[in-house]
Amino acid sequence: MMMPRAVRQASQPAEYRLFDQLPPPSAMLDEVIAGLTQQPKRIAPKFFYDERGSRLFEAITGLPEYYLTRTEMGLFDACLPEVHDRIGGGGCLVEYGAGSSVKIRRLLEELQPRTYLPVDISRRHLEQSAQALHADYPHLSVYPICADMTAPFELPAVVAGLDKLGFYPGSSIGNFEPGDAQAFLRQVATTLGAGGRLLIGVDRKKDVNVLEAAYNDSAGITAEFNLNILRHLNSALATEIDPAGFRHRADYNEESGCVQMFLECVKDQSSRVDGRIIDFAEGELVHTENSYKYGHEQFADLAAGGGFKVEASWSDADAYFTLFLLIAQ
Ligand SMILES: C[S@@+](CC[C@H](N)C(=O)[O-])C[C@H]1O[C@@H](n2cnc3c(N)ncnc32)[C@H](O)[C@@H]1O
Repeated sequence: MMMPRAVRQASQPAEYRLFDQLPPPSAMLDEVIAGLTQQPKRIAPKFFYDERGSRLFEAITGLPEYYLTRTEMGLFDACLPEVHDRIGGGGCLVEYGAGSSVKIRRLLEELQPRTYLPVDISRRHLEQSAQALHADYPHLSVYPICADMTAPFELPAVVAGLDKLGFYPGSSIGNFEPGDAQAFLRQVATTLGAGGRLLIGVDRKKDVNVLEAAYNDSAGITAEFNLNILRHLNSALATEIDPAGFRHRADYNEESGCVQMFLECVKDQSSRVDGRIIDFAEGELVHTENSYKYGHEQFADLAAGGGFKVEASWSDADAYFTLFLLIAQ
C-alpha cells in the first residue's frame, strides 16, 4: 500500500528539521503548582524527563529486574517481518515518546520507512538521538517534534497525505488513567488517519513480586529517576524542593491493576514554589506515576474505545508483555 508513495519520495533528498511545539515554562509551572496544591499532591510523569531523566530511564531499561524492554524487544523477530508484509516499506513512522534509540533502529532496519518523526518532551535527548539517526541513515528524512503529546500537537505539513505507522513502545500507554488512554488513542487515530496503524507495547498483569521488583531495583536507579523529577523542576522552574527530603516508593495496587510510584516525604518540610510556600508532612505521599497493566481482551476493549481495532498481536511465552498492531477505524 505504501509503495507508490515510496517511489515518489525516493527522488527527494533526505532532510532533518526540528519542529518545536513545547509549551512555555509558565504553562509547566502552572501545572506543577496545580498538582502540588491538590490533595493528594501529584506531579505528572512527563516532568521526569530532562536530559538526566532520559539517561536514567535508558539505564533502567538495562536493569535485570526491568523485564519490559528486553521482553518487548524479544518480540521484534516475530512481529516486525509481519508488520513489513502488511504495510510495505517507504512510509512515514511516527514514534510517540521516542526516548530509546535502541528499539527504533530495529524498526528502521526492518520496516525501511522514508520518513521518521520522533515525538518527545525531552528536547536535548530528542535532538541528540534524532541527529544520530539522521547521520546513520542518510536516506531517512528525520523530523523530530518536541511537544507534550498529552495535548494536541501538529505533524509537519511535509508528511500530509503519507501513509503512517505509529509506534508507541515501552507500555507508556499504562501511564495514562484508562479514560485518558482512550482519549490519547483517539487523538493518535485522528493523526494517523483511517487505515493508519499503531504498533503499541503493553505490559500485562502478572505476579505482584515481579511487578514490584521492576519498579524497586536493587541498584536504586528507579529511585534516582523518581527523585530526578524534583531536580528537574528545581532547575527548569526554579522551585526549591529538596530531593533529600523524599524517598522513592512503588507499590502494585491489585484492585486497579496499576503500579503506583510516589515520593514519600521523610520529614515535615516547607518548600518555595514560585513565591508560594508548599508544606509537606512527614509520611505524605506525592504521586508521580501510574503504570497500568492490562489483560489481552481488556486492552483490545480499551483500543476499541480509542478508535482502533486489533489487527495482530505478539506475546512472549510467559504472557508478560504484548505488542499489538492496531488499525485506525
Ligand atoms: C518511559 S520512556 C519510554 C522510552 C521509549 N519509548 C521506550 O520504549 O523505552 C517515556 C518517553 O516518553 C517521553 N515522554 C513522557 N511524557 C511525555 C509527554 N507528555 N509528551 C512527549 N513525550 C513524553 C519521555 O521523554 C521518554 O522519552
